[in-house]
Amino acid sequence: MNNFTFYNPTKILFGKETISNLSSLVPSNKKVIIIYGGGSIKSNGVYEQVINNLKNHDVVEFAGIESNPTLQTCMKAVDVIKSNNVSFILAVGGGSVIDAVKFIAAAAVNNYDDPWQSIVIENNFNNAMEYGSVLTLPATGSEMNCSAVISNSELGEKMAFSNSSVYPKFSILDPSTTFSLPSSQVANGVVDAYVHVLEQYLTTDINTPVQDRWAEGLLLTLIDQGRYVIDNPNDYEGRANLMWAATSALNGYIGVGVDQDWSTHMIGHEITAAYGVDHARSLAIVLPGLLSIQRKQKEKKLLQYAKRVWGVTQGDKNVIIDEVITRTTLFFQSVGISSRFVDYDINPEEAAEKIGNIFIERGQLFGENRDISGELVKKILLNRQ
Ligand code: NZQ
Ligand code: ZN
Repeated sequence: MNNFTFYNPTKILFGKETISNLSSLVPSNKKVIIIYGGGSIKSNGVYEQVINNLKNHDVVEFAGIESNPTLQTCMKAVDVIKSNNVSFILAVGGGSVIDAVKFIAAAAVNNYDDPWQSIVIENNFNNAMEYGSVLTLPATGSEMNCSAVISNSELGEKMAFSNSSVYPKFSILDPSTTFSLPSSQVANGVVDAYVHVLEQYLTTDINTPVQDRWAEGLLLTLIDQGRYVIDNPNDYEGRANLMWAATSALNGYIGVGVDQDWSTHMIGHEITAAYGVDHARSLAIVLPGLLSIQRKQKEKKLLQYAKRVWGVTQGDKNVIIDEVITRTTLFFQSVGISSRFVDYDINPEEAAEKIGNIFIERGQLFGENRDISGELVKKILLNRQ
């Protein structure tokens, strides 16, 4: 096992009616800004609950954080914070709102000429404004981690940063807030969380049975409860299990002491930036080709995944690996998510060329062995079993 330090300071309040804790969680002596997205919280009652529970606080609002939040929108929120002397942020929404708030929290207390360069590219900060979150979409794990993904609409780029000063102080996870999600967003969450687990699990076998069993437990839960919630959208228990599975997939626990990959995400982010495909769907496009091309490096873990998660043991190694990649793709399809560029009206050859060239220009090598280059990205995106 690799050496590791584990620290996660986010307080989680999970369950029905937990939004009522806001009045005591949000410091009463601070001016608060509530930051949210395009308005879903106004139609599902979450906004009303939040406002009612902050009625004794001094509150301003910023609405309009978009999916795949942009630098440009985040900087507008920073202006509102500065002109109103705000000192605490409450993010209410999905991963996009929470990610945006991480960037905003850093930009609000650090004066940079170029916040994109300093925060996202150089990760050059060690303090941020305190913030909490009310999660409404189980998917990203942003509610309990210190990573964020921000898009720069001027540059056409989508980049991640991680910094321990942007963990949420608290996150409220009330599964009832997710009843209003369209099934397409539930499916996005299931596939995103599933790929988060695979990025930390399907790497090198370095004898980490605790992390492996945790990861396999999450994968089996996501398969089972993901389908269950799509078929039974009004069942609270299913919603609760899915919500906790998604948070657990990327709150750090399963990633300690193991080699991590993240190449599916890096390639997927560029697909979203170039074509506007939802985050989870971009991952579904990349993953099958990546696993197929990287089958040698990932062989032991792919065979373990096949056996323990899908019960696939028959045939020689390559047959088993092909079969488990197919099963994974069929699982994504079973919740309504395609792994084919053409289903998103994208020409595969054109996309492979364009996305591969981005990594060639950056001269980046990534994946758990740092062996994925822009040239290999082209092959991954064109790979069809
Ligand atoms: O904007 P509103 O009106 O709130 O609508 C949102 C949005 O249209 C809607 N929604 C959210 N909660 C809802 C709801 N609709 C009805 N009922 C509810 N309860 O759902 C739509 C999608 O929301 P969004 O926040 O964009 O989705 P998600 O949570 O999947 O976040 C995606 C973003 O997270 C990043 C992705 O790259 C993407 O930008 N990621 C962040 C990570 C992290 N911080 O660790 C890791 C992930 O891999 C991911 O990259
Ligand atoms: Zn993701």
